[in-house]
Amino acid sequence: MMVSIGIDVGGTGLKAGAVSERGEILSKVSCPTLPERGFEAVVADMARLAVRAAEEAGAAMEEVRSVGIGIPGVHDPARNLVVRCVNLYWKDVPLIDEMHRYLSVPVYVDNDATVAGLAESVAGASRGMHSSVLITLGTGIGSAIIIDGRIYAGAHGCGGEMGHIITHAGGILCSCGHRGCWERYASASGLIRLGQEIAKRNPDGVIARKSGGNPEAIDARMVLDSAKEGDPDAMQAFETYTEELAIGLSSIVVALDPEMIVLGGGVAGAGEFLLQAVRKKIAEYAIFPDMPLPRIELAITGNDAGIIGAAHLGR
Ligand code: BGC
Repeated sequence: MMVSIGIDVGGTGLKAGAVSERGEILSKVSCPTLPERGFEAVVADMARLAVRAAEEAGAAMEEVRSVGIGIPGVHDPARNLVVRCVNLYWKDVPLIDEMHRYLSVPVYVDNDATVAGLAESVAGASRGMHSSVLITLGTGIGSAIIIDGRIYAGAHGCGGEMGHIITHAGGILCSCGHRGCWERYASASGLIRLGQEIAKRNPDGVIARKSGGNPEAIDARMVLDSAKEGDPDAMQAFETYTEELAIGLSSIVVALDPEMIVLGGGVAGAGEFLLQAVRKKIAEYAIFPDMPLPRIELAITGNDAGIIGAAHLGR
């Protein structure tokens, strides 16, 4: 049985899975990314995960057709280098060569949101759409622009880096080196920061309690769940967060007017609760209120989109 391995490299976690010829996930394994360990250590873990994913799917390494990797940054196939992954602190690193120190199968690399966007446009929410934009809300914000069923990556392969649109001039310092990037405010990390501020201000509050009194343990889910439960502090944070999200999404609508915007990544796990808030705010920002707006939907390949899309890279 031939399989392809897909690896989804996130700022927080590494996930890998073996995917069948028919596109089904046969196994899933994961471990923390811990990017501060440096490039080599992270790649060693990626190679280990690939081997484990094959093993757990009952496939021998000879049955692994290829390993595809979705990275949170930009890859330059001409130089065979990952040019930049700001949230992993990678700059001009030879990812494919490093993987070949451990594995002898073909290795393919592309942007994480690009591969997830492909998965969505082939088998997900935006299937059949002429134009769509997938936005992933994780450690950073990733995006894939799909026009005529194909990814638009710009003239130099580094387009669709929407997370680095500056929505707050002179704002919070981003891992890319600039200030005020959208992803500092509207990614899962942006939501976590709001939750941490609340927990520090109100150490007896719901969010502080959920985190066991340790603000570092706060994740996006804790803030979203507290808001859903009606905690006023968390509801305020959710309001601020969705405002930040809607501001960036509205810029995408102005620039591209796609048929659909698909929301994926960890924060999209909030489901309808998030969708309703975002749809309402986008309508408020519409520049031409009489014209139709893009449909806003949740990614349906969900958290597996990265693995499935990456596994498809070799096909
Ligand atoms: C990177 C993108 C990536 C996104 C999500 C951003 O910081 O610049 O390339 O797609 O994070 O991981």
